[in-house]
Amino acid sequence: MKKLTIIAGMIILGFITSNLFADGAKLFKSKCGACHTLKVDGKKVSGGTVGPDLTGVAKQHSEKFIKLYMTKPVQARKKYAKNCEHLIKKCGKSGLKMPSIMLKKEQVNQIYEALK
Ligand code: HEC
Repeated sequence: MKKLTIIAGMIILGFITSNLFADGAKLFKSKCGACHTLKVDGKKVSGGTVGPDLTGVAKQHSEKFIKLYMTKPVQARKKYAKNCEHLIKKCGKSGLKMPSIMLKKEQVNQIYEALK
């Protein structure tokens, strides 16, 4: 019986996390996809080129930085200036800056799941 509970728990947990991921990818496409490219498992979620390609971004930056960047890029650039040197070099000339995106905390978490 205990085993069954554990298995059921794992199935439910797997279902929740895979759903979180699917929602995140969908959200990413609608909120970020116009400006950013993202590939997940080799499949293209979006192909925007205004901002940098975000494939693998969670391996390059901390979770805190990425989550803050989504809704408050100006603050994130100030707080984590070191993380942004590459962006300043890349985006400084064109003057293109990411706008603040209105997202609920839950949506930020969902999108982050898709970026991992
Ligand atoms: C209107 C275009 C636009 C939208 C929409 C947009 N971004 Fe950006 N993003 C940019 C640009 C341009 C940059 C380059 C740095 C800067 O100017 O802020 C950037 C940079 C970033 C970075 C830093 C990347 C790095 O290599 O350090 C992250 C993370 C990021 N965006 C995440 C997101 C997420 C997640 C969303 C959706 C919630 C989003 N962006 C929506 C334009 C956009």
